[in-house]
Amino acid sequence: MSKENNKLTRSDELFLKAKAVIPGGIFGHYKYSVGESAPKFFSKAKDSYFWDVDGNKFIDLMCAYGPMILGYNNPVVDKAAQQQYDLGNTVSLASPVMIELAETLVDMVAVADWALFGKNGGDSTSLAIMVARAETGREKIIKINDGYHGVASWMQRNNSPGTIPSDTDEIIDIEWNAIDELERAISENPNQIACFISSPYHHPVLKDNVLPEDQYWQKVESLCRQNGIVLIVDDVRAGFRINLAGSNEAYGFKPDLVCLGKAMGNGYPISALVGADHLKKSAEAVYFTGTQFFNAAPMAAAKATLLELQKIDAVNKMEEFGNNLKSGLVKVAQENQFELVVSGVPTMPYFRLNNVDIKVHNSWIDECLKRGLYMVNYHNHFISATHDKEDLENILEIASDSFSALSKGL
Ligand SMILES: Cc1ncc(COP(=O)(O)O)c(C=O)c1O
Repeated sequence: MSKENNKLTRSDELFLKAKAVIPGGIFGHYKYSVGESAPKFFSKAKDSYFWDVDGNKFIDLMCAYGPMILGYNNPVVDKAAQQQYDLGNTVSLASPVMIELAETLVDMVAVADWALFGKNGGDSTSLAIMVARAETGREKIIKINDGYHGVASWMQRNNSPGTIPSDTDEIIDIEWNAIDELERAISENPNQIACFISSPYHHPVLKDNVLPEDQYWQKVESLCRQNGIVLIVDDVRAGFRINLAGSNEAYGFKPDLVCLGKAMGNGYPISALVGADHLKKSAEAVYFTGTQFFNAAPMAAAKATLLELQKIDAVNKMEEFGNNLKSGLVKVAQENQFELVVSGVPTMPYFRLNNVDIKVHNSWIDECLKRGLYMVNYHNHFISATHDKEDLENILEIASDSFSALSKGL
């Protein structure tokens, strides 16, 4: 709703239309960004920007929650996809591009000796669990409390609508960075743990993100090895934003399986599970498929995305931007008498205003939205390789103006 004249914006009108035919109007994680000044529908996107249906332009710090890593409508990726669309996309056979993509991943990702493909990150995390169970003949899964791995029933919180208690009977939740809890879970369930699954660092919603403590992953790795537990890194969110060879490489350990998704296709629908050779037989034994899993164009797009990330040294570029963004935002906050806490890795920053009510933080986000900077209030943000110096200057100006508007309103 436009505040000035109480007239419905086009976004609001569409939201009302959507509610008539779609439960909730906007569903899933996209519904949480529906705030006072939040745009609800986009009309177009290019590079680090999108435009909403009311014609407002936004610098996007969410990158579609991760998939956009080379810029919206990246010409290299889109050309590769289009060439494959022209040849054929969903056909009664797989395309050779599937092998080329698997070879690209095997070359690029340190632990990868093979790859299987799905559409969403949840496909690869569910497959990883099944491969671990097939390999070990065990049922239990250790995961991190508040760790997110998708929407399948085993990953949902207890009592989540539509789930039943037995969905999570075999799940053991432990705290992040707590080696003693992992040791206890293993000793209380001897020879019953199929796998340990975690993202490379802890990125819960509505909380500061937490990096692994020194030697955490090395201790996890050694406990898994000693106890025949399959070690799974869920790199769906952080993958290709920390290290192209797998985020585990940055933390110096070797998992057995790595789940990939989000950024690997720059927005084309594709995910992958990659793994070490000793699990190849179990991966073959698990029945894993989907009507759309063999779409060839997203595979061509993913291959082009991975090679382009390598070619432009994307991780370093994104890290530099992320570090400058962090120091710049902390500074403009300080200049306006606010303390901004930035957690997580530089390419996926989580922001929190310290010592103020969450409502004040939300108002700051709202002020940024009004000025054309797209952020959300509950989730880490994402940097892409297309965010540049000019974007940084604009973001800092918007953030600063938003802080000063906030101070006036307090
Ligand atoms: C760490 C992690 N794993 C798995 C998933 C599930 O991926 P998808 O939503 O593509 O199924 C997500 C999605 O946000 C995620 O962040």
